[in-house]
Order: sequence, then C-alpha cells, then structure tokens
Amino acid sequence: MFYPVIKKALFQLDPERAHEFTFQQLRRLSNTPFEFLIRQSVPTKPVTCMGLSFKNPLGLAAGLDKDGDCIDALGAMGFGHIEVGTVTPRPQPGNDKPRLFRVVEAEGLINRMGFNNHGVDNLIENVKKSRFGGVLGINIGKNKDTPVEQGKDDYLICMDKIYAHAGYIASNISSPNTPGLRSLQYGEALDDLLQAIKNKQEALHQQYQKYVPIAVKIAPDLSEEELIQIADSLVRHNIDGVIATNTTLNRDLIQGLNHCGQTGGLSGRPLQQRSTEVIRRLAQELNGRLPIIGVGGVDSLTAAREKMAAGASLVQIYSGFIFHGPRLIKDIITHI
Ligand SMILES: Cc1cc2nc3c(=O)[nH]c(=O)nc-3n(C[C@H](O)[C@H](O)[C@H](O)COP(=O)(O)O)c2cc1C
Repeated sequence: MFYPVIKKALFQLDPERAHEFTFQQLRRLSNTPFEFLIRQSVPTKPVTCMGLSFKNPLGLAAGLDKDGDCIDALGAMGFGHIEVGTVTPRPQPGNDKPRLFRVVEAEGLINRMGFNNHGVDNLIENVKKSRFGGVLGINIGKNKDTPVEQGKDDYLICMDKIYAHAGYIASNISSPNTPGLRSLQYGEALDDLLQAIKNKQEALHQQYQKYVPIAVKIAPDLSEEELIQIADSLVRHNIDGVIATNTTLNRDLIQGLNHCGQTGGLSGRPLQQRSTEVIRRLAQELNGRLPIIGVGGVDSLTAAREKMAAGASLVQIYSGFIFHGPRLIKDIITHI
C-alpha cells in the first residue's frame, strides 16, 4: 500500500544506497512489534519440488540478500523460499562502485556487483539466527581471486560449511561479473564440476543423514546446442534442479535507454521473454527428469504464470520486487 510512495523516495537515491537503506530499516523492524508494517498474509499454495515442501511457488532470487542479513523480514512478506548468496568462501568487496544501475523506462536493472559478500562463515551465523519457516536456499560461487581452474574447490568449501544449514544449495556458474565463471557451464569443465559437487553431496548426505538437493543456475546467453548439452549433463549427474536464468549480457531491448551501455548483467522486464524461452526449451529437453526454477523478468501475475506454463515448478523474483514492491508477492501467490 505504501510502496509507491516509498519507491518514489528510494528512486531518488543511488540504487545501492537505496538497497542499503532499505535493508537497515527492514532489520530494524524485523522481529519487533512493528513487524506488522512489513508482514503480509498470503494463502498457502503447497508445491513439492526437489523433494522439498514449499508453502507456495514464489521465492526471492539470489543476490538481494547476499549475506542473509534480512531473512526474517523478507520471509514476513510471504515468500515460500528465499535464496541467499551468492556467497564465496572468503569475504570480498566486489567491483568498484557505481556498479548497479536502474533502466527505469524498461523496468530493468544492470549490475556488475561481482559477488560482494562477507563470506560463507558470516552467512552461516545469520542463517542460524533466522526464524524463517520457508525453504532457505543458499547460493554459492567462487572468489574472484581463485583461478577458474581451481574454482571447483571454492564450491566444495562452501558446500562443506553450508550443508547442515541449507534447504537446497544453488551452484551459481552463470554470473557475468566474475571473470571466467561462465566457462564452467561448458563441456568438460561442467562435467568435472558436477561430478565433484555430486560426490561431495553424497559424502555430506552420509555425514549428516540429511539429503540437501542441489540446483545449478544457468545463464540466458546460451545457444540452443549449449542448452541441450547442459541439460544432458545435469541429467547424467543426477542434479536435483536447474535455476533459469541469471542476468543477460544482451542489450537489444534497451537500446538508447539511459545506462544501456553499462557493463554487467541486465535483469527485469527486458529479460522476461528470453528467460521464458530458455525455460521452455529446457523443459522440452528435460522432460520432467528434473524440475526448473524460473526466474527473469517476473513483474506480474501474468509473467509468473507464463514461467509456470513454460515448465517452471517454482518462480523467483528480484527486479520485479524492486519496481513493484511487496504487493507483487501477494498478487502472485494469491492468484497463481
Ligand atoms: C543487483 C543484482 C545482484 C544479483 N546478484 C546475484 C547473485 O549474487 N547470485 C545469483 O545467482 N544471481 C544474482 N542476481 C540475478 C538474480 O538472482 C536473477 O537471476 C536475475 O536478476 C533475473 O531475475 P529478475 O529479472 O527477477 O531480476 C542478481 C541480480 C541483481 C539485479
């Protein structure tokens, strides 16, 4: 109800400053008598995916709460799942600022954050403190200064640390802002990574007597052939789910708009159609063998329905939440 007013004020600020300010306020309200200001009641719409029970099909996409600072406040808004991260083994500052831009006319964002985060140990402390009753996904990546050839080790270090605390684990191999990261999506490098992740999952399953599913997050900037190869690898390695998609490098739909020339990944409405196409093609290829979590430009109930009609079992939002606020969560969950 208040969001149009709040948004007007927030959009006067630099985007990253607006994010920090909002998070400060959310932390202040969370778990206090004033939490009613952010709490929304939403109907239960149960979904089973990757063997987990979700109270509704809508989740928060990775990158908004990289360090798990606001899990309870975001949970109070109704999300069925929250994906925190991307987190890396060691803390790192990310790229130089400014690194986040609004393409307002297109309801898009361009970011080149570069996995700014306080490291996996800090994230675990935050997760331990949270009381969120939904499914908590933890999204992992590699440190910028870890050579790509050793990138695999970073995923395994994170898995060791988070396994006991995660509802599911998301392996991010598709951010455009960590040099070389996307090369892990192809051929031998992908097979090698998936094999290592799967072996680690099996060992941790034994150790904790708890099976934590693993989803792999992919880019929208893949050729049809590459997409088919990835789908084949995911099936061969018994990966539990695929998250499609991350941000795009393509700028065709925002030509001439303010900030269109900024380096980084584009998200929001200009990504909507491409990400749905990727989901549809993946669904054909996977034929139900593993579930798809659909993300990219979901800014309305219609857009969420399109993702599900294309084959997604769950849907996530990030940019749409920035442009439309908590109301979008309620609209989608109530009517989907
Ligand atoms: C500022 C920003 C930071 C992001 N950081 C991450 C990240 O750390 N890890 C990740 O897997 N995806 C990250 N993403 C991608 C989102 O999770 C999502 O896949 C993408 O934005 C498309 O969804 P949307 O159009 O609803 O924003 C980020 C997106 C934005 C806008």
